[in-house]
Amino acid sequence: MPADDPRTIRLSDYQPYSHALDRVELTFKLHPTATRVLARLHLAPNPAARTGQDLRLDGEGLRLIACAVDGQAVQPSLDATGLTLAAALLPAGAFVLETEVEIAPEGNTALEGLYMSNGMYCTQCEAEGFRKITFYPDRPDVMARFHVRIESDLPVLLSNGNPVGQGVGWAEWDDPWPKPSYLFALVAGDLRAHPGQFTTMEGRDVGLNIWVRPGDEGRCAWGMQALKASMAWDEKVYGRAYDLDIFNIVAVDDFNMGAMENKGLNIFNSKAVLASPETATDDDFARVEAIIAHEYFHNWTGNRITCRDWFQLCLKEGLTVFRDQQFSGDLRSHAVKRIEDVLMLRARQFREDGGPLAHAVRPDSFVEINNFYTATVYEKGAEVIGMLKRLVGDADYARALDLYFDRHDGQAATIEDWLKVFEDTTGRDLSQFKRWYTEAGTPRVSVAEDWADGVYTLTLAQENPATPGQAQKGAKVIPVAVGLLNPNGDEVVPTTVLELTEAKQSFAFKGLASRPVASILRGFSAPVILERSVPAAERAFLLAHDTDPFNRWEAGRGLAKDVLARMIVDGAAPGADLLDGLARLAFDEALDPAFRALALRLPGEDDMAATLHAAGHVPDPARIYHARRALHLALAERLAAGLPELELACRVPGAFSPDAAAAGKRALRLAALGLLARLDDGATARAAYAAADNMTESFGSLAILLDIGAGQAELADFAVKWQGDRLVLDKWFAVQVAAAQPDNVADVVRRLTARPDFDWKNPNRFRAVIGALSGNHAGFHHASGEGYALLADWLIKLDPLNPQTASRMSTAFESWPRYDADRQAMMRGALQRIMATTGLSRDLSEMAGRMLA
Ligand code: BES
Ligand code: ZN
Repeated sequence: MPADDPRTIRLSDYQPYSHALDRVELTFKLHPTATRVLARLHLAPNPAARTGQDLRLDGEGLRLIACAVDGQAVQPSLDATGLTLAAALLPAGAFVLETEVEIAPEGNTALEGLYMSNGMYCTQCEAEGFRKITFYPDRPDVMARFHVRIESDLPVLLSNGNPVGQGVGWAEWDDPWPKPSYLFALVAGDLRAHPGQFTTMEGRDVGLNIWVRPGDEGRCAWGMQALKASMAWDEKVYGRAYDLDIFNIVAVDDFNMGAMENKGLNIFNSKAVLASPETATDDDFARVEAIIAHEYFHNWTGNRITCRDWFQLCLKEGLTVFRDQQFSGDLRSHAVKRIEDVLMLRARQFREDGGPLAHAVRPDSFVEINNFYTATVYEKGAEVIGMLKRLVGDADYARALDLYFDRHDGQAATIEDWLKVFEDTTGRDLSQFKRWYTEAGTPRVSVAEDWADGVYTLTLAQENPATPGQAQKGAKVIPVAVGLLNPNGDEVVPTTVLELTEAKQSFAFKGLASRPVASILRGFSAPVILERSVPAAERAFLLAHDTDPFNRWEAGRGLAKDVLARMIVDGAAPGADLLDGLARLAFDEALDPAFRALALRLPGEDDMAATLHAAGHVPDPARIYHARRALHLALAERLAAGLPELELACRVPGAFSPDAAAAGKRALRLAALGLLARLDDGATARAAYAAADNMTESFGSLAILLDIGAGQAELADFAVKWQGDRLVLDKWFAVQVAAAQPDNVADVVRRLTARPDFDWKNPNRFRAVIGALSGNHAGFHHASGEGYALLADWLIKLDPLNPQTASRMSTAFESWPRYDADRQAMMRGALQRIMATTGLSRDLSEMAGRMLA
């Protein structure tokens, strides 16, 4: 980011808060345009801070009605970001500050603070939304016990903690656990509960509820099951039990993110919790399960132990992502989960880390914290924990976590605290490892091999590329998991973790009878780019024989990328190594169908653009698009003889179940249908659409038909069938943009956005269309520049209403340095046009500025 931006907040400026806040009593008198919030803050000077300081409270967009200290009215000084009470107006010891403010939730389109969605009140306070509700020290290291009274005629009134009283028109809640304001939540509406129950290992009976709008009750069962599974898993694997008598989840339609872990009252985007076989795909089911787990796991990693300041965001997010990944792997398949996670890491985090928005897992400055809920903080943050676990071993990881929970429960902690726990448990010095937290950029690891006198030597070298604001970096500690195979495919050296700690290091393997084939970076043991040109025959060998499932998949991936790159750059024909290897895998019934489906998925266009750019080429989006389709057709022709049988074999009989085995079969069936469609003009996919009794297969076959330029009848049928269903209709919007031919994408977007049901103020609907626009690589990067212009138009339009969502979606432009001069100029031009907009939000202006810098 521009280092001189006057709005910059720095980690090095951290100071403890002037006061300690023990208890908070809040009263909400709800009204769409004039909600009154009364706050009583029990304050005292903070012994850990400098004495005699003024009292500063954050507050934005609040109309102050009254303010009193110990019952005496006082006159604070107000400005655009808060309120100050001079030290002279304050008692020397403890005191109670009372404020009353008025806010207007109905007009809150930013969906931060207290807002309304379909007649229901709800809140989103992370990271700094509580200051839009009342005057408060809105920072995570100020932790207090909350008591909340809600007054409203609406039937369901919810807040954090345990219910302590209710009557006609009111309810009171008390949360015994001290928490920062970002975990506050309030919900009021006409809601229906899907109830459940869980008894913790400590014997506590917990009432569970998923609250939804009337009509959505039938879509809660899966989420409830996922919640119980998460509670049981956290007890079994981390020894952590739930700590209140009630756990509520609420589904809301208007939500910027996926979900939020408010203490005892998680709030979810409807699409991240509602699921039924008719309306949700297998991917949706898996996502709901993972996100319920994620938010639940925050109860210990985030809520009981929170972050000292927002620079430490990865302390809770990286760890919680790591935990939800472990959970999904345990419940489903570790191999498949790892491949999916790495696909996502490369698509989003490597892309970010290699571009103008690169930043450290723990950044040391920001302008708008909402811009730092990134793939780097989340996904790389989780990878760093995976590496730590690999380095210290499972037993010491478990001991370190026990110590972490013991030592820091009830505290607001830092990355230093986190690393210290591992140092104290293992005696290891983690100062070099800490670079993973403080230095941005994806390390590049190159490999040289030597074979002489029965000794096989691997020489690994690392390079840490410069990133914005960080030119020089030190060598990292990189765990490189390696296994060696005999030429006949037997494993002669099982997985061994090599610790690369220097710029260049050699590792020798002795006593081998023949030159082995190395399987390097097994399980993707570190988030690095392996720079190694491997002969096609060796990749094909690993694709056939590697005992590490991740690297087996990776071998096919590498082969496919090499083949595609040659097709794009030289117009080469697809080689037999790849097609034969994939054919063997596709029909190998000993392998998990989900794994086979993943192996048949070709590298995406954006991935190929990044790969070509890294190899020194200037990617041409149109050529990538056509080459990828040609490869898909070649694969279809190579597999043709076996596809009809495969498609039949993968039909899952009986009632729909979203379990991993059934989902894997459906994924492989759809892969087969997608290939078949290239050969039979979609006849089989059309039949599959007509026969489908679940969303996975009906939506999957619809997408296949649209992709080959067919499916208009099915698209119309789908629209009629799902007219009134907002979540399914989002899919209908998105798939048309995703499947549009590059030349038509802009027209399709213009047509869809002109529809009356394109409710662009709803983030899900906006993302369905505008997110799909930037996701259509060849369309977005169309030589006309229309894709860029359209995205910029919509971001400029959305920004004044919802800066968070506009800002997040602007990252579509971060890849500008990869492309040719014309496209670069157009992408930068779009960013400059955004920058030049008057009244631009801090969110979007920081992002556009960083991308242009
Ligand atoms: N704490 C976040 C939600 C959040 C993000 C609040 C940004 C405010 C700003 C929550 O725990 C989260 O990480 N949600 C993710 C999903 C999760 C499965 C990674 C999300 O909403 O995308
Ligand atoms: Zn989270």
